[in-house]
Amino acid sequence: MFMQIGHKIIRLDTVDSTNNYTANLLKKGELVHGTVILADEQTSGRGQREAIWTSKAGENMLLSVFVSPDKLSVTNQVALTHFSSICMLEILRKIGIISTIKWPNDIFVGKNKISGILIENTISGANVENSILGIGLNINQIDFEIQQATSINKEKPGFTSINEIVFMLIYELNLWWKYLNINDLETLRLKYLENLFLLNDEATFEDSDGRFVGIIRGTTKEGFLIIERSINEKVILKNYDLKEIKFIY
Ligand code: BTN
Repeated sequence: MFMQIGHKIIRLDTVDSTNNYTANLLKKGELVHGTVILADEQTSGRGQREAIWTSKAGENMLLSVFVSPDKLSVTNQVALTHFSSICMLEILRKIGIISTIKWPNDIFVGKNKISGILIENTISGANVENSILGIGLNINQIDFEIQQATSINKEKPGFTSINEIVFMLIYELNLWWKYLNINDLETLRLKYLENLFLLNDEATFEDSDGRFVGIIRGTTKEGFLIIERSINEKVILKNYDLKEIKFIY
């Protein structure tokens, strides 16, 4: 039977991390596709590259979406990155905030981060069997420990209901999930690329050889970042994985 995303919502007051909680339910065999796990507060919120995700209690959206794609090959798993970032972009667009996707899946307003996504997949053979899409969106928080952060409230002053945003997200998730269902991954990829932060702009990056100026030209089918740069007066295109490149902007 086809289950809508959000057909079941689990609400928690405090949890270590909604992704951990979801992974534990999965281990116990207690999860079905489309379950959303929401918390007011996380005591050990996790981000990409082993970073921590901090959020003031009750002020922001902290949730994990559990999905079981139908025959999504491991080589195409980046489609989940495209899918989840597009949904965030669309919510913000609908409330009047223009955002972009900083590769691979941070959501930025100007040069400030408003949302982060941590995707954790379970692989079975050649396919992604399950995926936990952990999403944090800053909504009502005004003060942040890091400088380059923003929230809906900072962009559009006033209180925004977290519940309302959760329901907007569930709507977008169901809308865009159909592209995964019909295996139209190219539509997701193109929509993602159209909204990529710094696409075709000159910017400074850092890799294992140091800082350099380059231009993001897109991403590969597998999701690597393609940067154009000059080395010894030769213009080359180089593909980068997440841990290989840092943005200096
Ligand atoms: C990042 O920007 O590095 C990703 C941040 C992801 C944060 C969310 S909040 C809900 C879910 N639970 C977690 O522990 N992390 C994700």
